Amino acid sequence: MDNCLKKYYIITYGCQMNLHESEKIAGILTELGYSATNSEVDADIIVFNTCCIRENAEDRAEGNIGALKKLKKQKKDLIIAVGGCMTQQPGFAQKLHEMFPFVDIIFGTHNLERFKELLEKKLSQKKTLIAVDEKEGEIIEGTPKTRTSFPNAWVNITYGCNNFCTYCIVPYVRGRERSRSMENILKECKDLVKQGYKEITLLGQNVNSYGKDLENTSFAKLIEEVSKIEGDFRLRFMTNHPKDFNEDLIRAISVSKKACKTVHLPVQAGSNRILKLMNRKYTREDYLEKVKLLRQYIPDVSITTDIMVGFPTETEEDFLDTVDLVKQVGFAGAFTFIYSKRDGTPAAKMDGQVDEEISKTRIMKLIDLQNETNRKQSETYLNKTVQILCEGFDDKKGMYLGRDTYGRMAYFKSETDLIGQFVDVKITKTGGISLIGELV
Ligand code: SAH
Ligand code: SF4
Ligand code: F3S
Repeated sequence: MDNCLKKYYIITYGCQMNLHESEKIAGILTELGYSATNSEVDADIIVFNTCCIRENAEDRAEGNIGALKKLKKQKKDLIIAVGGCMTQQPGFAQKLHEMFPFVDIIFGTHNLERFKELLEKKLSQKKTLIAVDEKEGEIIEGTPKTRTSFPNAWVNITYGCNNFCTYCIVPYVRGRERSRSMENILKECKDLVKQGYKEITLLGQNVNSYGKDLENTSFAKLIEEVSKIEGDFRLRFMTNHPKDFNEDLIRAISVSKKACKTVHLPVQAGSNRILKLMNRKYTREDYLEKVKLLRQYIPDVSITTDIMVGFPTETEEDFLDTVDLVKQVGFAGAFTFIYSKRDGTPAAKMDGQVDEEISKTRIMKLIDLQNETNRKQSETYLNKTVQILCEGFDDKKGMYLGRDTYGRMAYFKSETDLIGQFVDVKITKTGGISLIGELV
């Protein structure tokens, strides 16, 4: 069979980790002779890499899978595969198979590295192939990757999560926390810098607990070692967990010549009662103390966060505690979410589920507050020159774009392609969260 002209199309939902896993699926398909297409209609294989963190992520995936029924009827040889966190939920693969019998392969997060094997097996059988292992296996190294985010490269450092925040499905669909060996991480980072990548983002559900299952190592040590790699690149990492974000690590970030001056530190809520119900294992005072310490070491650090509203039993008073904390910290950015009930998590069984309309009002208040902070922080950039790593081109705006060390996005015009280069940009206009400037 001539595979040269075969095309793949991957649709990814969810977090950076999932985007990176799609790069692995793309890598496997590339090795099998497929090439990428950005049109579903041209594809010989369509892969959905799904997310189930909130109900709307699942609804979107289900809607898009359902919409392929017609295409599959017209194109008998088309392979449709569905993988990722959604399929890993207990009983979900079977449910998906019943809802969408035309789907050819259903695979879980623990089966991703074996995608080649699954595809080959499917090609030799007619019926749907369901391969969802209940338990995670050992870390598999050496999976090929077709990277899609140059000049940034994602590097896994831990898989899974042991924290069991009571609202969160991740520990159930990604298994227990496992750290990759420092040696393998460093080798991957060195290779990436050699290949010309200018930004490395270390990935884990809780990067701060890296190495707890290994000997004599820690995330602080990893930052130190990655920072020693020669070459011109930036280092980012996500996500941090306030309970494990400690002074050793803050020190390592502050002395690193590569680490960006930005830390994503999800707080989730500002009320101690809610934080306890969420099983976050820190108080608002602990959080504010860590922010203070971080700013002592790196006074100009930008701190971003995730916040949730409408967790079961959240009162107006609890919410105002969150608002107060947001005001006190002055985040450089915040991802805000309405709590979404996830079957199988402890919070789903809690009394006092909050009315959707109340949650909507609360999230709007938070968004308004954060927009105001963004606007004020952006204004401080006016007429300043900042170093930007050019990441891409925005077709709509007709401008290049990139971020500074604080993670702030800037747009600018250029006659030549600057993607992957560090450039100096003078900020001439500020709006909401992003900036507009001119090359200097
Ligand atoms: N491991 C990371 C990210 C987890 S998912 C962390 O601990 O921060 C990203 C964000 O989604 C979380 O920070 C949380 O704010 C949000 N989230 C997780 N579960 C959710 C749920 N059931 N409903 C709404 N938001 C949720
Ligand atoms: Fe979910 Fe909490 Fe783990 Fe983050 S740390 S993935 S929110 S359980
Ligand atoms: Fe990520 Fe969604 Fe899974 S946020 S870990 S893809 S549930």
